[in-house]
Amino acid sequence: MKKALVLAVLYCLVFPYAASAEKVGGGDITFSPKNASVVIFSHEKHVNEKGLKCTGCHYQIFQMAQGSYKMDMSRINKGDFCGKCHNGEKSFDVKDQKNCGRCHH
Ligand code: HEC
Ligand code: HEC
Ligand code: HEC
Repeated sequence: MKKALVLAVLYCLVFPYAASAEKVGGGDITFSPKNASVVIFSHEKHVNEKGLKCTGCHYQIFQMAQGSYKMDMSRINKGDFCGKCHNGEKSFDVKDQKNCGRCHH
């Protein structure tokens, strides 16, 4: 119990942003495409859990403002935007039917 508390305190000292309610990067971003259910992109999961750097996406793939590019599945399937990584190599494949529901909610 005590050890867990010490670790929690240390964690807060090392990662001050995780300790406060402050959001990571651009926070959770929700896209609402016309013909599909919403897509949620989580900065927290990509940055904190998967260890990606801001510069891994900004500004090569995405600008730092929601809706900078018109994204659609055909471009994503060809390897643009989310498809730069979600191609079955760096991460799960956008073209696999099993994975649609991992982004579309
Ligand atoms: C895995 C890719 C990825 C990484 C890594 C990433 N971002 Fe983002 N970020 C995005 C996407 C996608 C958007 C939305 C872009 C769009 O809609 O055109 C975005 C948008 C933003 C926005 C704008 C939010 C808004 O509401 O308009 C900010 C600010 C931002 N990011 C900051 C950061 C910071 C700071 C980091 C590093 C801590 C970071 N991002 C890391 C993908 C990423
Ligand atoms: C890595 C995340 C991701 C996965 C996996 C994914 N999508 Fe998408 N999808 C998106 C994003 C992002 C958009 C564009 C959102 C926006 O900007 O409106 C989109 C848009 C769409 C659209 C809107 C129309 C169009 O053509 O763009 C359809 C339909 C769609 N997706 C279907 C699918 C299907 C079917 C699958 C599974 C085979 C799938 N998506 C898997 C992220 C994903
Ligand atoms: C720079 C590379 C990169 C880009 C660009 C990227 N992702 Fe990811 N994403 C990853 C990695 C790496 C993982 C973790 C892979 C795994 O566990 O299979 C991940 C995981 C995810 C997950 C699962 C999160 C979880 O654990 O619940 C979702 C959902 C997701 N990404 C959506 C998106 C969407 C939507 C976009 C585009 C707006 C996007 N990603 C763009 C690299 C990227």
